[in-house]
Amino acid sequence: PRPILLTRHGESRDNVRGRIGGDSVLSDAGELYSKKLSNFIEKRLKSERAASIWTSTLQRTIITASPIAGFPKIQWRALDEINAGVCDGMNYKEIKKNMPEEYESREKDKLRYRYPRGESYLDVIQRLEPVIIELERQRAPVVVISHQAVLRALYAYFADRPLKEIPHIEVPLHTIIEIQMGVTGVQEKRYKLMD
Ligand code: G3H
Repeated sequence: PRPILLTRHGESRDNVRGRIGGDSVLSDAGELYSKKLSNFIEKRLKSERAASIWTSTLQRTIITASPIAGFPKIQWRALDEINAGVCDGMNYKEIKKNMPEEYESREKDKLRYRYPRGESYLDVIQRLEPVIIELERQRAPVVVISHQAVLRALYAYFADRPLKEIPHIEVPLHTIIEIQMGVTGVQEKRYKLMD
């Protein structure tokens, strides 16, 4: 059985500041994760010649993948983080203070809430469809380096979790979630490479 390895990008500078969206580079901790991830992947997929690395088109995932050698890398726009529209670049405190109605509607229905000029979780789930189709077709392992909201949706699909849970699933930084699809169902392992 072929594994699918899911991970968020290494911690970004915007993660440190609590800002959503943007296209920032990695923090020092994030840089360290990219090296640890690369060591892990090169060992884990040593004899897997047909494996590939999929990232989003945002710098933080491309930089996280950059030390990994020996596998083709594919960038997908569909793996980009949820588009926070007018809230892009803000932190949650600023959204709550400056746009309290928006903040509250999101609290009430995080799955359906769509950022003005941006996306909802349902939008993200829909745009992931071609990625999922392609993942299902792969015979070789795939490493997906993406973002929290996107990975919540991908994980929920493979782990068969209900739609309403998706916006609340925990997908921690610096952790690899390995999913194995076998005849008996889906098996999951987690590798926490650092805090
Ligand atoms: O930047 C967006 C976050 O990764 C998604 O977090 O949907 O829990 O606000 P949230």
